[in-house]
Amino acid sequence: MTDPKPEIENVRVFIRVRPLNKKETSEDRKNVVLVDTAENLIVLNKDGNGEKRKPYKFDQIFAESSTQMDLYRVIAAPIVEKVLQGFNGTIFAYGQTGTGKTYTMAGNFSNSDSKGITPNAFSHIFTQISRSSEEKSFVVTVTYLEIYNEEVRDLLSANPNKKLAIRERTDVGVYVKDLMGFTVDSWKASPNY
Ligand SMILES: Nc1ncnc2c1ncn2[C@@H]1O[C@H](COP(=O)(O)OP(=O)(O)OP(=O)(O)O)[C@@H](O)[C@H]1O
Ligand SMILES: [Mg+2]
Repeated sequence: MTDPKPEIENVRVFIRVRPLNKKETSEDRKNVVLVDTAENLIVLNKDGNGEKRKPYKFDQIFAESSTQMDLYRVIAAPIVEKVLQGFNGTIFAYGQTGTGKTYTMAGNFSNSDSKGITPNAFSHIFTQISRSSEEKSFVVTVTYLEIYNEEVRDLLSANPNKKLAIRERTDVGVYVKDLMGFTVDSWKASPNY
């Protein structure tokens, strides 16, 4: 890997509006998020007078009809390309329960149209590595942790109930002590997954 110069970019914020599910439709619920994809605005229309309400602007809004690949191309692909050049990158999903964080980040691994950002990013990384010149070498390591109720657990550990500590060091920054890292060479999930 090359040794890139530090480069800091602004955090980009995207909104994804999920479709109403069967239960919500059967209860005749209405979508209260008005979307203007041309201007990248949303308006919360709880009491039906959306035009008078304050619009909120974001980097890009993805309406209900957006596909997993629509999001991947805009949000994740540029970050993965940067990572392959040696930069750090972070993507995280934020939202209340049931809004679609797991669907967006993980999705359905066995259905190619429903794969979320994580499996698509692995596929992208290993495809690019397989096409890169032989002088370059890459090491891909995965870690997988959960922070729940302010407790950190290692989801790849043989003992995932053990609580791990968050530490800071001047040379590496913030890290989780004893978090397991596994070197991987394929995007495919193991048969035991
Ligand atoms: N864009 C979408 N298209 C179709 N179905 C979706 C979409 N987003 C979410 N869903 C479905 O909505 C339900 C809730 O989504 P999900 O489990 O991803 O929410 P979550 O934000 O991870 O919630 P929690 O915080 O409780 O984990 C799931 O059944 C998921 O498949
Ligand atoms: Mg979830």
